[in-house]
Amino acid sequence: CRVRHYKFNVVMKNTTRLCSTKPIVTVNGKFPGPTLYAREDDTVLIKVVNHVKYNVSIHWHGIMQIRTGWADGPAYITQCPIQPGQNYVYNFTITGQRGTLLWHAHILWLRATLHGAIVILPKLGVPYPFPKPNHERVVILGEWWKSDTEAVINEAQKSGLAPNVSDAHTINGHPGVVPNCPSTESFTLGVAPGKTYLLRLINAALNEELFFKIAGHTLTVVEVDAAYVKPFKTDTILIAPGQTTNVIVTANKRGGKYMLAASPFMDTPVVAVDNKTATATLHYTGTLTTSPTTLTVPPPQNATSIANNFMNSLKSLNSKKYPAKVPQNISHSLFFTVGLGINPCPTCKAGNGSRVVAAINNVTFVMPSVALLQAHFFNTKGVFTTDFPANPPFSFNYTGTPPANLGTTNGTKVYRLPYNATVQVVLQDTGIIAPENHPIHLHGFNFFQVGRGIGNFNPKIDPKNFNLVDPVERNTIGVPSGGWVAIRFRADNPGVWFMHCHLEVHTSWGLKMAFLVDNGKGPNESLLPPPKDLPKC
Ligand code: C2O
Repeated sequence: CRVRHYKFNVVMKNTTRLCSTKPIVTVNGKFPGPTLYAREDDTVLIKVVNHVKYNVSIHWHGIMQIRTGWADGPAYITQCPIQPGQNYVYNFTITGQRGTLLWHAHILWLRATLHGAIVILPKLGVPYPFPKPNHERVVILGEWWKSDTEAVINEAQKSGLAPNVSDAHTINGHPGVVPNCPSTESFTLGVAPGKTYLLRLINAALNEELFFKIAGHTLTVVEVDAAYVKPFKTDTILIAPGQTTNVIVTANKRGGKYMLAASPFMDTPVVAVDNKTATATLHYTGTLTTSPTTLTVPPPQNATSIANNFMNSLKSLNSKKYPAKVPQNISHSLFFTVGLGINPCPTCKAGNGSRVVAAINNVTFVMPSVALLQAHFFNTKGVFTTDFPANPPFSFNYTGTPPANLGTTNGTKVYRLPYNATVQVVLQDTGIIAPENHPIHLHGFNFFQVGRGIGNFNPKIDPKNFNLVDPVERNTIGVPSGGWVAIRFRADNPGVWFMHCHLEVHTSWGLKMAFLVDNGKGPNESLLPPPKDLPKC
């Protein structure tokens, strides 16, 4: 293993998409940003220098950050943001992980343009557990906003109403063919006949779970969220913001052009309908650019059976070399409702004196003004409380008629866990206002999805059907609309770990909480001290 150094200059860059130009926040002037390459067990140092007017922080999504929570990145959770003109070195070791992940800004809505791939290769000499592909490519799905995303969310916070949706979805930064904007805004993936390609798919969009397809080609899924899965073939991938999926594609045609399509899975009544499909082209070498493209039809919106089929096909590889270490006995069994609510807001003119909020167990998380991890480490009182509820305050028919009171409680609450606790969390979507799909991301750990179902979780029956053998291992999981998932993890990483919906609009509304994991007694079981250059608030 070695030490790798990166320099991320956060700079503005004028960028043109959809026939209009705006300055965007970038790393090193690139959109999407540069790929971070490393090998399993490498130490990575990334010096982030903030040259823009915004406060910045960067999260290495899916890197477990064993004992190095200071390098995790979520603003006001593990660090204060890097202020304009300041810099910070993120310093961490990639322990026992290999695969595709992503890095992204973790403050306000800067993630819209501040994101890129993390590619972790296996240790030198260690092969993939599948035939080595001839080539590898990163494919990042995203969204493009003609307006300034910071203004979009600030306006929504003021009015209490839902923010606007983006103007396009993108594939490697490009929407594809856009009506009324004749340009070459399209990404082309060149392939040679007979060769195999490992596509490292990343969803970096702010607010959309996406379907992904390639006309005429089958995708073999081999990994999700940097964890190997039992390979399976599909023609459609479902990928939520924060998730990654590695697929192998065989270029088994003699030539031609084939459409790549990324289209929204589901939109909700509280956010405006958004059905824009991003397109790109799979282009066989030697094919004339003028030749016709074989098209593909994206799944219709709300194609839940396609989504369910895909989700249910995911199983851990669980081989001798890569065993699924699913916690079998549980020390902490939690039940979290995830959903929306409505709170009074006298200043919200557009919201008629109320605003849409989101909550876990009825708690709408309020961001502190000092980072939780610092408050924890230095024992600063009054920043957070440790009374995050293990269960909802009252039970109701979660997927049926909403309760009379749609209000939530505000608080900066964490759930405290002893070191090495074995934790099960049932995440139950609620139908308050509307059932919605919530991709829930846990920092600091991978977890196993041991169960998934539609309707209300039944604690008497559903656990009997849990998969404790080869459940998929991930860091971000879609809780289905009007349904639930059960996840398990071992709390063997001391620190403060954020858990939140990866739809940025829901995070902004408060669908977030944190686990505080205590130090263990062993020599390598405590949080390391903060680095000297940790930003100050
Ligand atoms: Cu990728 Cu806390 O997020």
